[in-house]
Amino acid sequence: MRIQSYATYEEMSKAAARYMAAQLLLKPDSVIGLATGSTPIGMYKELIKMNEAGEIDFSDVVTVNLDEYKGLSADHPQSYRYFMNENLFDHVNVFADNTYLPDGEQVDDAKVCKDYDDIIETVGPIDVQLLGIGHNGHIGFNEPADAFTTGTQCITLDERTLQANARFFDGDMTKVPTKAFTMGIGTIMKAKKILLVVTGKEKTEILDKAMNGPVNPAVPASILQLHPDVMVIVDDAALGK
Ligand code: F6R
Repeated sequence: MRIQSYATYEEMSKAAARYMAAQLLLKPDSVIGLATGSTPIGMYKELIKMNEAGEIDFSDVVTVNLDEYKGLSADHPQSYRYFMNENLFDHVNVFADNTYLPDGEQVDDAKVCKDYDDIIETVGPIDVQLLGIGHNGHIGFNEPADAFTTGTQCITLDERTLQANARFFDGDMTKVPTKAFTMGIGTIMKAKKILLVVTGKEKTEILDKAMNGPVNPAVPASILQLHPDVMVIVDDAALGK
């Protein structure tokens, strides 16, 4: 794992955007795995600016997102499809048909998971997978467990995750969907490169566990220690500086 730390969130967001931009310059038809959550928003803003300035081109890019809430339609303001449209897709020249997320509206969980695995198999391999980290060490929505997941799963969110995500649902934990579809850890680990972005002092402890602790499914992000090409871009606060 390589780690780069920056004084502020803005600087780390710019660095993460430069990493992605370099990937798109080297391979314009990259398959990029994307994440939602607060952390990548600054990076997405920078990528939009670069695209507007003609510095990067998304016209041949394919994206596969990590996760989607079960039961939320694409036009629900808290769905991850909506988030991605608002924060990136609607502002860059990516083709909507080239952007994939699990289908949160389907009732047949097994079908959603199989369909998403098939999509990733068809468009993949993923060139760069962007990740954030949850307070409990989750990546995607792969929560602490007894074993690492392989392919796409329908999972029940941890109480800690529901609490953290309540901020997007009027601060009301009971409004957060309790289930979500997530790309599995096996799929994440098959990405050629991984970019992990982390901000804020409330992530210091879990980041340290993930990077330096034992590799253990109780801290899902710890598996990243076994990936050959992980770039961790953080702000100083996340490092506990
Ligand atoms: C989001 C995702 C999650 C988040 C994590 C951190 O698609 O997969 O694993 O990356 O919960 O979220 P933030 O950035 O909001 O702290």
